[in-house]
Amino acid sequence: MIYSLSNLNIMKSDRILVIGANGQIGSVLVEYLKGIYGEGMVVASDLRVPAHPAGIFEKLDASDAQGLSALVKKYKVTQIYHLAAILSAKGEQDPLRTWNINMQTYLNVLEVARQNDVRKIFYPSSIAVFGDQAKGQAEQWSYLDPATVYGISKAAGENWSNYYFKKYGMDIRSLRYPGIISYQSMPGGGTTDYAVDIFHKAVNGEVFECFLKEDTKLPMIYMNDAMDATVRLMEAPKEKITVRTSYNLAGMSFDPAEIAASIRKVIPSFEITYKPDSRQEIADSWPGTIDDSQARKDWGWRPAYSIDKMTEEMISELRKSHIHSLKH
Ligand code: NAD
Ligand code: SER
Repeated sequence: MIYSLSNLNIMKSDRILVIGANGQIGSVLVEYLKGIYGEGMVVASDLRVPAHPAGIFEKLDASDAQGLSALVKKYKVTQIYHLAAILSAKGEQDPLRTWNINMQTYLNVLEVARQNDVRKIFYPSSIAVFGDQAKGQAEQWSYLDPATVYGISKAAGENWSNYYFKKYGMDIRSLRYPGIISYQSMPGGGTTDYAVDIFHKAVNGEVFECFLKEDTKLPMIYMNDAMDATVRLMEAPKEKITVRTSYNLAGMSFDPAEIAASIRKVIPSFEITYKPDSRQEIADSWPGTIDDSQARKDWGWRPAYSIDKMTEEMISELRKSHIHSLKH
């Protein structure tokens, strides 16, 4: 079974620290990891304390290396998923702060992991590492000329990962995530955020005003596929990992008009209008499609979701929570 994780040799004794666990990805990833490794093996941490933390939660500012080190020692952490970052659109509002947070937190993770023999690190990179040189389709080894401070920090993080692998033999693995689409969580300040918001407006019966032009095609991925890819990469045998900067990862590519058409197959009355803002310039600097053949070849990556399959599931899941919120 190609999509089952059951055939992977998963070490259930791993103790996992997730940093930035309250975000769009972290809040889903923590539950996903608990399902695989066991509730008590996953420590969630974030700057922000959730209203009702489920399982082990520790408040942590990853800019604080000592605090991070104390947590790693306390829980005898063997794997770190470092998700904390300022994303593309929010990052442009204060470029130097974005650089400082994105780089300092990652350098702390690398150093604390090195000093405490953490077995594996996951570093999420992004399609934002690409720029004008990869217009159209981004290949695995396309030149990286990012246009945002977020993209610059991700490209630097990829190179630091490769450096720590080569210099210290540390097992750091990374994916260049496309825009992630989820019903469980809201995105936190990116350029692909419209592709989540559009579903909420559609289910609520509202007109959606899109901040990108109708023909702005971007790479996207459904959260279920992103989770599968992440753990599949982390659990692949070490000798299969040939890319130590970051793997290209593709799910699907669409523009706002195409996702609106897909939604209309389920909600025919759905309406969209367009009012591009500063995020248009960021989107214009990114590739429309991603070649992920290296990930497919090295560790068997295959996405399971098409645009229409994702749309049907998003709408059906959001309808359940919409009905629930109307009742309460
Ligand atoms: P998010 O903004 O939703 O969540 C980030 C979390 O990090 C937040 O909960 C925030 O409180 C926390 N955080 C920020 N600074 C921190 C600090 N100093 N210490 C501890 N926690 C801190 O982001 P996300 O969408 O969940 O993305 C997670 C990672 O994946 C990021 O590195 C992002 O760049 C990357 N990524 C996301 C996408 C996407 O579409 N969501 C795409 C590509 C890459
Ligand atoms: N989805 C992210 C963003 O839009 C890309 O990393 O910022």
